[in-house]
Amino acid sequence: MAKILLAVVVIIGFVSLAELSYAHHGGGYHGGGYHGGGYHGEGYHGEGHHGGGCNGEGHQGGSSTGGTTPGAPPTSSSSVETKSMDQLYADAKKEGCKAIVYAGGDVPGQQDYYKNLFEQKFKGCTLEMIVDYSKFHDARINYQLQNNKLIPDVVQLQTLQDFPIWKNQNRLMSYKPKDWDVIVKEYKDPDGYFLPIFFSHFTNCVNNKLMKDPKTWPTNIKDYLKPELKGHIVLTYPNDDDAVLFLFKLFIDKYGWGFFEELNAKQNVTWVRGTEEPSVALAENRTWAAIAAGCDFNNPPGVSTFVLPKSDPFMTWAQTAAIFKDAKNPATAKLYLNWIISADVQRNNLGSWSIRTDVPPPKPYGPLSSYKSQTNPMDFKTFMENRAAVEDLKTKMMLIIGEPKGPASPGNLGMYPTKALPH
Ligand SMILES: *[C@@H]1O[C@H](CO)[C@@H](O)[C@H](O)[C@H]1NC(C)=O
Ligand SMILES: *[C@@H]1O[C@H](CO)[C@@H](O)[C@H](O)[C@H]1NC(C)=O
Repeated sequence: MAKILLAVVVIIGFVSLAELSYAHHGGGYHGGGYHGGGYHGEGYHGEGHHGGGCNGEGHQGGSSTGGTTPGAPPTSSSSVETKSMDQLYADAKKEGCKAIVYAGGDVPGQQDYYKNLFEQKFKGCTLEMIVDYSKFHDARINYQLQNNKLIPDVVQLQTLQDFPIWKNQNRLMSYKPKDWDVIVKEYKDPDGYFLPIFFSHFTNCVNNKLMKDPKTWPTNIKDYLKPELKGHIVLTYPNDDDAVLFLFKLFIDKYGWGFFEELNAKQNVTWVRGTEEPSVALAENRTWAAIAAGCDFNNPPGVSTFVLPKSDPFMTWAQTAAIFKDAKNPATAKLYLNWIISADVQRNNLGSWSIRTDVPPPKPYGPLSSYKSQTNPMDFKTFMENRAAVEDLKTKMMLIIGEPKGPASPGNLGMYPTKALPH
């Protein structure tokens, strides 16, 4: 037992240092204005904050300076929700129908699409979607938990390594929303402490007006080395966002470091923080192509086109959510989870693969299982759990492209945000 507790403490230490020393993206992207479809994504965060080391230490210090000690690992498992949406809505209204969600993402308004959909459907309810890089939100949450001042009711992040840790600390609520049984089983906690809410993806996105001929579109990674693309590529610092880092890891595993060094040396790449900026640069005709951008595969009319690689790997992961055990607004939190995984939202509002086995992707895309040689969302989870390997890879990237420059794209939210930053 003591050994297990010690291991947990060591892991938490790693996570806090790792999260603070880089910056990443989180969630998604979509920025309301540019995709109409609602992409969501996470994904976009970066890493990088300044001063990471000091903060990291401070954060770790927190564990020895009071605050709640984590509880014993939970042993219960809830049964699947049987109430109707109307009953869940009525329950939420009784508690005021307001909930705070800490959502991984790149810019303050990145989750407005979902906030607005939810608030239109459930009149009188407020979903406060507070967006930051996942790697910042998780350290912030650990800080709040240590100081007994937890703010969010729900958390949804790309830092997948956090969820089993929070579960084992007895920080999460066991809750299985309606339709639990049709959620992909590999990504949900069997005891209901966390669940996937959508898949996100990173691969090619091109501006179809600046690159009119589809035959010229980059699809495989080596296409980005073509001379005509020089100066027309915007990429998120992989050493600022673990999801982008993982995407580049897939390429490096296949082609070695040489292609990455060549890309950086020859192509005058514009490196940016967060995955929102590549999407915006494409949408505003400032660049031709990006690899890790929020890019909705419903392809709403517009200049940005999602292109799957012909044979190269691409990146997918299951954005994961949980309700905190001590959530102040549990009924509204439950309503939100039931709604976000509902067939209606999953079918019509994602722009990526659904986590429901009964909702196929729009044509011409196949189920994720049909791209087994190119992507496996489980690989990112495994990657995220090995913080030492993540740090090593990030640092190698940094030695090649430098440290992330510029302010963190979501803004500075402080330790206890209760509202989204103005946007
Ligand atoms: C690289 O791109 C920037 C704009 O992003 C431009 O100002 C600069 O001149 C370019 N440098 C080279 C060597 O092409
Ligand atoms: C981008 O270019 C297209 C086609 O020329 C144009 O319709 C669109 O308005 C441009 N977008 C912006 C933001 O300039």
